[in-house]
Amino acid sequence: MLRVSTSFYSVISSGEQLILKFGSKFLHFWKLRVDRARSLGTVAPSSRYLARDMVTELKKNHSENGVVVELGPGNGAITRHILSSVQDPESVLPIEISSDSVEKLNRKFPVLNAVHDSAANLEKYITNGQKVQAIISGLPLRVMPRDCVHQIGEAIHNVMGPDSIYVQYTYDLRPKKDAYFKRGNFKKISSRIVWRNLPPARVDVFVAN
Ligand SMILES: C[S@@+](CC[C@H](N)C(=O)[O-])C[C@H]1O[C@@H](n2cnc3c(N)ncnc32)[C@H](O)[C@@H]1O
Repeated sequence: MLRVSTSFYSVISSGEQLILKFGSKFLHFWKLRVDRARSLGTVAPSSRYLARDMVTELKKNHSENGVVVELGPGNGAITRHILSSVQDPESVLPIEISSDSVEKLNRKFPVLNAVHDSAANLEKYITNGQKVQAIISGLPLRVMPRDCVHQIGEAIHNVMGPDSIYVQYTYDLRPKKDAYFKRGNFKKISSRIVWRNLPPARVDVFVAN
């Protein structure tokens, strides 16, 4: 009797252990996803609808030349569209803080030489007199520390010329909530919502003041 209940107990017990083990693995996996999502500011890469919208202005200025900076390219959902919108693919300069993403990006698009650094150091990569055509940003500014966002805003502003554009998307659809940076540094020239992206995103285009 004792043996039966003991073995019965041990079966339940190992079953429970299995469930617990599976449960804790699942929780660990989920926590990693949420932590990663926090640093990325999203749980999914941008859709082709959002990516296309982000490069609309580039396509309009197809004849323009100069560097096209991409901030926070991740695994390249928008990069692909940038590359097909510029005349010279070597003019594209992606700056990404995750070394994993940089490695994947350079493997996926051999023409690129993606930089592993923070967007806050953008000025280091633009040589004196080099023209910046556009800055396309997928940075999750709303979840980043304020001082970092401030530094990035200054760096973007400092490299922009009179004809440069800065394109930023956000999942915050409220049009008035767009003061990422110091007041007066940028002027918004267009804003539209891409409803087909999941979640829907707002794409804002700025020029430097
Ligand atoms: C929301 S994901 C966007 C990825 C991709 N552009 C897209 O739209 O699918 C944000 C990206 O910004 C990168 N990132 C976050 N902080 C950064 C920083 N300070 N400098 C450069 N990249 C950064 C993250 O590693 C991540 O790849």
